[in-house]
Amino acid sequence: MSYNNVLFESHNGITTITINRPKKLNALNKETINELHDAFDTADRDKNTKVIIVTGSGEKAFVAGADISEFANFSVEEGKKLAANGQKILFDFVENLSTPVIAAVNGFALGGGLELAMACHFRIASDNAKLGLPEVSLGVIPGYGGTQRLPQLIGKGRAMEMIMTAGMIDANKALNYGLVNHVTSLEELLPLCEKIALKILNNSSVAIGAAVHAINANFKDGVNGFEVEVNEFGKCFGTEDFTEGTTAFLEKRKADFPGN
Ligand code: COA
Repeated sequence: MSYNNVLFESHNGITTITINRPKKLNALNKETINELHDAFDTADRDKNTKVIIVTGSGEKAFVAGADISEFANFSVEEGKKLAANGQKILFDFVENLSTPVIAAVNGFALGGGLELAMACHFRIASDNAKLGLPEVSLGVIPGYGGTQRLPQLIGKGRAMEMIMTAGMIDANKALNYGLVNHVTSLEELLPLCEKIALKILNNSSVAIGAAVHAINANFKDGVNGFEVEVNEFGKCFGTEDFTEGTTAFLEKRKADFPGN
């Protein structure tokens, strides 16, 4: 698939997906959401991609939200469908990928932009980043998982305040809230993400996928995360990566994981 709004670049085991609508501050229209689904799916299926980084084009925005011009005239049913489809093909999809996904938040991450960053496995921000869920200022609520993931990440009271005030927090406050793991300069943002990605690359991608599945189970209704952990732990014993990892340790050498 060729993309109009997404750039896709892979090297050394890292695929970088860049949302590329800088004139609209990378707002997520329908086409971009579809393209992002395809880009994440392609990267996840690519055996050579061990880490995915997602970022925004330009120096101003990661993503300034869902594209308001597309849904301003929607009916109740269309609104429901917009949220359900977006959650399914992008936000839940990204959260449940077994390939690690890092959000490189390079500016405004508002509404659907913060929701996309929160669906990623973790977030790193540049010091110019501004994060918020301003939907109630438009007469709507976050619809791409924001009401669920924000309290998971920063706690209920802080999430209530952020959503009710529709305000933005800066990168350092986001760090203090645990919403992002690191803050750095804009120039150092992608290099830092790549540095962390390289640490991930040394490890078993199969085990990492199992860990993502087990960690996510903690946040799924009606699922016993401890049971999922037991099953995933057991399954690791049947993998070539486990054989290689334990053998390499005992032979006092660096593991060279086959990824199976
Ligand atoms: N949907 C559609 N277009 C958007 C957008 C969005 N979420 N966010 C920004 N844009 C567009 C603007 O309409 C503008 O387009 P134009 O040049 O054709 O008029 C362009 O991107 C640049 O934005 P602008 O508002 O001029 O930049 P700014 O620096 O003055 O303000 C923001 C930046 C992020 C504060 C402001 O764009 C904003 O509030 N955006 C909406 C954020 C939001 O509510 N998101 C949640 C949506 S549910």
